Amino acid sequence: MVQLLTREVALKPARTTKARARKVAPVDRADLPRDLPLGQIIPGDCIQAMRALPSASVDMVFADPPYNLQLGGDLARPDGSHVDAVTNDWDKFDSFATYDRFTREWLTEARRVLKPDGGLWVIGSYHNIFRVGAILQDLGFWILNDIVWRKANPMPNFKGTRFTNAHETLIWASMGEKAKYTFNYRAMKTLNDELQMRSDWVLPICGGPERLKKDGTKVHPTQKPEGLLYRVMLATTNKGDVVLDPFFGTGTTGAVAKRLGREWIGCERDTVYAEAARARIDMALELDESAITTMHSARSAPKVAFGTLVETGWIAPGSVVFDKKRRLRATVRADGSLISDAVDGSIHALGAKLQGAPSCNGWTFWHIEHEGTLKPIDAIRQLYLLATED
Ligand SMILES: C[S@@+](CC[C@H](N)C(=O)[O-])C[C@H]1O[C@@H](n2cnc3c(N)ncnc32)[C@H](O)[C@@H]1O
Repeated sequence: MVQLLTREVALKPARTTKARARKVAPVDRADLPRDLPLGQIIPGDCIQAMRALPSASVDMVFADPPYNLQLGGDLARPDGSHVDAVTNDWDKFDSFATYDRFTREWLTEARRVLKPDGGLWVIGSYHNIFRVGAILQDLGFWILNDIVWRKANPMPNFKGTRFTNAHETLIWASMGEKAKYTFNYRAMKTLNDELQMRSDWVLPICGGPERLKKDGTKVHPTQKPEGLLYRVMLATTNKGDVVLDPFFGTGTTGAVAKRLGREWIGCERDTVYAEAARARIDMALELDESAITTMHSARSAPKVAFGTLVETGWIAPGSVVFDKKRRLRATVRADGSLISDAVDGSIHALGAKLQGAPSCNGWTFWHIEHEGTLKPIDAIRQLYLLATED
């Protein structure tokens, strides 16, 4: 029974604490197609389930389909203990042709229910990801990235016959070459300590209190870590977006969606997994809005003059700003100009003058000490925007 599950919900601390704390505003459902089973796990086969959903109705599909692992026989560790491998019927297919047919069918439905500017994510291993990738391209999806999830703690290759299989691949695709899609570039850069987020992600496999267990046994052999879904959703969806997971398993997608204020729909044909997922999601807590709101890219953010940060006290007159390597320094004046050894100008003009360059983006060139680290002044502008947006 679900109440015997040993999992405790592990919440990560909020990343953006400067903004005003308030509860998540209810999603404006007026623009959602009617009859969307939001927050529900649809039982049975996902292809049938998706056929009942309206076209162009979801913002993202995250799919963790059967991998068709083709494992033969039992696998044992050197000490003789049994390896808990994926040998379930749901992962078995007669042939590659059967697997391809199945893949084409569910991807066709996923494409139908996705909005024109929606995004598709599929995770897989070398057993299936190349087949899935070819089929989704054939159907018209446009691959934006393949993300390598490097497992921080992979299972060794016990027989020593091959390299340790230490990663899985996620394909991220839009609806077509020219299709729009959501990518929260700025939020990803912030998540990655001000460095552009790369396509290789090092994250641990699912374990500890996050792993669902019943009587000491894993509820599901392939439960994905919440950290992986957290990054996927933060990067490519916005608050209130609808995320569909056709292979819901223990509901990792639903639990993370709920935490991040996204709507979700799951399909799962195994009732034990579905029950475990339901209980898990019911326990998950939604973050409040100030914690969910993420950094915006400069393109989408309203314009803020440097002087506004000075007059509102976010950067005090007299503060010292530096270039990234602290070779140049300047003092902030009351009118938002900078002065450095009798040379002065705006953040952009002084940056350009001191480098002998024709132009300079002062927002990323100048840095300031903030909470013990040197941050671009653009980061302070982002904090200001978060704290002041409606
Ligand atoms: C790889 S697991 C997904 C695990 C999930 N991401 C998690 O974190 O728990 C695939 C799941 O898809 C389900 N499944 C397989 N074929 C299905 C189908 N045709 N329709 C619905 N669910 C299916 C299996 O029962 C299994 O739970």
